[in-house]
Amino acid sequence: MSADIINGNIIASKIRAELKIRAENLVKRGMQPGLAVILVGDDPASAIYVRNKAKACRESGMRSEVYNFPGETSQEAVLEHIHALNVNPEIHGILVQLPLPAHFESHRLIASIAIEKDVDGFHPCNVGALATGNALFYPCTPYGVMMMLKERDILIEGQHAVVVGRSNIVGKPMSLMLLEKGATVTICTSKTRELTEYTRSADILVVATGKPRMITAGMVKSGATVIDVGINRMDDGTLCGDVDFFPVMEKAGHITPVPGGVGPMTITMLMSNTIEAAERARKAR
Ligand code: GUN
Repeated sequence: MSADIINGNIIASKIRAELKIRAENLVKRGMQPGLAVILVGDDPASAIYVRNKAKACRESGMRSEVYNFPGETSQEAVLEHIHALNVNPEIHGILVQLPLPAHFESHRLIASIAIEKDVDGFHPCNVGALATGNALFYPCTPYGVMMMLKERDILIEGQHAVVVGRSNIVGKPMSLMLLEKGATVTICTSKTRELTEYTRSADILVVATGKPRMITAGMVKSGATVIDVGINRMDDGTLCGDVDFFPVMEKAGHITPVPGGVGPMTITMLMSNTIEAAERARKAR
């Protein structure tokens, strides 16, 4: 049996159509939702992500500002810029693209963002709020995964969810969000001993390790939902995920492809969080 392929582009475009209407409603009331993206240095992958985020925002009727600082910029200069954005009424969401050059303390920059503009959900207060079930913003990638599970009506409560990866961007918040919905959650890493024993017992398997095709068909339970968060560029220029897609597709119940799976959902949920932030700012006026 071949799995249902969860197409992120289709789900994302449905959500974006709704977001466009919400953005238009705000514009009619004199408030265009605005996202500021801070990019430091010249990491080519980050530059592409940032360009895509800005383009998607504009297409949905939002304002987007990209501040590209040279890699040698001082941390203090970027902090000052964030402080100015924190009090800028035209900006409702602020995102610092990660990773930052080595001389930056990412946690200090993230902690300097006003929590009501922290549309990435990475501020320590928002991380704590997520852990206690009161998130102001859900981090965009796991939020996108939850929307994909919702779209397909995939049961979470009581199911065994295994998350492979422990990053602050995906693995940790993903685990908390699945836990919040009543899953029994196991967090593994690419180095977990006997990893297959865990992955084979997963009803929902989320993989975010950055290790191309590390999840093989033998590591997956028949009928499982397999969510691939990895995007790896291979030597021949093609993209592939952390899951060995075609063999696993023959075994899984649902699976996300790479590209065209989780990727478009991440940007969509960033726009959703920014519009949400603008709507809250308007209510607070
Ligand atoms: N780098 C990779 N993914 C992300 C993300 O979702 N947000 C930010 N700020 N940086 C990233």
